[in-house]
This record gives sequence, structure tokens and C-alpha cells, in this order.
Amino acid sequence: EKGGYQHFMIKEIHEQPKALKETLSPRINKDNDIVLDDIKLTEEDLEKINKVVIVACGTAYHAGLVGRFAIEKFAKIPVETDVASEFRYRDPFVDDKTLFIAVSQSGETADTLAALREAKEKGARVLAVTNVVGSRISREADDVFYTWAGPEIAVASTKAYTTQLVAMYLIALSMGLKKGTMTREKYDQILNELKTFPEKVEKLLQNQQLLQELADKQFNNQNVFYIGRGIDDHVGREGSLKLKEISYIHSEAIAAGELKHGTIALIEDGTLVVALATQDHLYDKMLSNIKEVKARGAYVIAVAKEGNTEIEKSADIAIYIPNTLDELTPVLSVIPLQILAYYIAVARGCDVDKPKNLAKSVTVE
Ligand code: M6R
Repeated sequence: EKGGYQHFMIKEIHEQPKALKETLSPRINKDNDIVLDDIKLTEEDLEKINKVVIVACGTAYHAGLVGRFAIEKFAKIPVETDVASEFRYRDPFVDDKTLFIAVSQSGETADTLAALREAKEKGARVLAVTNVVGSRISREADDVFYTWAGPEIAVASTKAYTTQLVAMYLIALSMGLKKGTMTREKYDQILNELKTFPEKVEKLLQNQQLLQELADKQFNNQNVFYIGRGIDDHVGREGSLKLKEISYIHSEAIAAGELKHGTIALIEDGTLVVALATQDHLYDKMLSNIKEVKARGAYVIAVAKEGNTEIEKSADIAIYIPNTLDELTPVLSVIPLQILAYYIAVARGCDVDKPKNLAKSVTVE
């Protein structure tokens, strides 16, 4: 059942090229138009919408953060992203001009469902992004986008996350085009790049030796920090969650610019810092952050785009992702973080697929 793999998690990591393809292909027709059959949002509906609220838990929340970036960037609609368990505590401002997007792999998460019900009661149009056909969240939503990742068994979410990212990009691009907030040229450029992702992820998965070696050296850390700026920060959060939930190492992700405001106090000799530096316009700032933590003794693993080798002068080790558009890097940059977390957990002898205290689907609030 694990198809020759030692754990479901690593099997599912390897299934990502296929999952991405199956989520992408049926949505793009021969004219390069995005066809979202299950989403009945018309141009008129979109015209009315003045705000998007994305709500989810855990990994799905991290996909929602990238969704916020994509929708604001491409469709120019203000977006709020909230953790589902917190959403109801602030009497959120939601009305019939709000598009509410619930992201949930299982479609059964109690907090996400409760938030969805509240938004619906307030008149919002509800769109679910889920991986399970017929799940409760899919049944209660007005529109559904299915991520075709296939069943995800490991508690740690991997292929669900990358397909959720693709879902968010497709939704944002189709909104942007319909609203006229992006040019057809830009739209085609981004969509064409997205179509190369199954192949690019495949390439990333081919060589895991460096990450395995790193894991074998770095499995004894007590604290790990993930730093990044912009969407790199969102991916850092996902990398950190992956590591802590399966390896039981304390880890924390922070926006790199926040380091100086407190967290840098915890960096000492040997502390592992994973620094994401995939964004061209933020690259120099990340180099400075890497130097800052290095000066305090950190061991830095940097993730950068192929060709940006300058980073090797500052970091201890550089992991490269295939070159791509900056807007789309999360789908690629999360892959080495998933693999690193996996091999660290294996090196620690952890029960990778079934971490202690965790359930695959959290059906209580
Ligand atoms: O099924 P959902 O997407 O609603 O689940 C949300 C979280 O419980 C889930 O992503 C959790 O954080 C994972 N264990 C992360 O790997």
C-alpha cells in the first residue's frame, strides 16, 4: 500500500507531480482559459465582491496566506486570511459582498466548518477548496474547487498543500482576468509557467541526497528557525509546522524583518536557521538577515532560485529550486522543506505517519 516507500509521507511527497497535474490539467482548456466548472461565480457576482476572507487551519491556512497574496496581486481585491479557530472571536466584518473561501484538505475540520457557517449566516458567498468529494465543507459551500491530490494518509500534509496552492493561483488568475485587473499577456505568462510545475517538482524530487545528509547531521537540534520575507515567510511557516509535527523539535517561523525585534536573542552557536530567499526584490535583505544570524553562530540552510549563487558566500549550504516566476515559488520551495522535515524525523526514529497527539482530521473545536 505504500508502494515500496517506507512511509506514506514520503510516498505522498513523491506523488506531487501527479497531483499537481491532475489539479491543473482539467482546469485549463486549449485556448489557455481557466475552466472552473464547479464555481458558478459570474462576472456580475465578482463585480459585487469587495472583499475576500480566507479561513483554514494548519497547513491549509498556510496555503491561504499565499492565496491572499495571489488574489490581491492578480485580482486587486482586499483579502484577509484567518485561522479558523480565531475567526469567530472578533465578530468578523462579513456581508453579502464578501467572498469567503474555506480551505480544507479533509473538508471535515470542525473550526473551518463553524467559520463557514458563520460567514454564510452573514450572507457571504462561500467557496470551498477541498480534497474530499462529498465532505461536509463541500456540501455546505455554494461553490467547490476540488484539489485532485488523491487520498492523503500521512498526518503531515504535503500534496494537499501544493495542490491547494495551485487552486489559489487558478482562482486568483481567473478572477484577475474576469475583472480586467491583469493583462492577458501577464495571465498567459503565469499560467504557462504554472503548467511546467509538475515537471519542475519532479526534477526537485530526483536528488534528495544533500537533504538526507543534512538531516543526518542536523537531527539533534533543540530549536530550528525558519525565516523569509513575503511569500517566503508563508512557506517558512509551512516548513516549520512540518518539522515540529513529525520530529518533535521545537521550531518557529518568523518574518525575517522581525528577527531584530526579539527572536534573534535565541540564536546561538549551532542553532539551525532555514532561510528562504527566492524573491528577487527581497534577496539582498535576506542576505543581510543571513549574515546577522551567522554572526551569532547559526548554521544556515538557504533556499534560493537556481543561479542565485551569491547566497553561498553567506549561508552554510544552499538548496536550489528551479528558476521560476517569483509569484509562484511556494509550490517549489516547500518541497525541500518537506523532504528535510521527513528525513530529520526518520533520523530521530519518529513515527512519521502518525505523530503523537495528532489526528489526520480534527473534528472537534
Ligand atoms: O483537513 P484540513 O485541511 O482542514 O486540516 C487542517 C489541519 O488540521 C492540517 O493541515 C494539519 O495542520 C496538518 N497536520 C499539517 O500537516
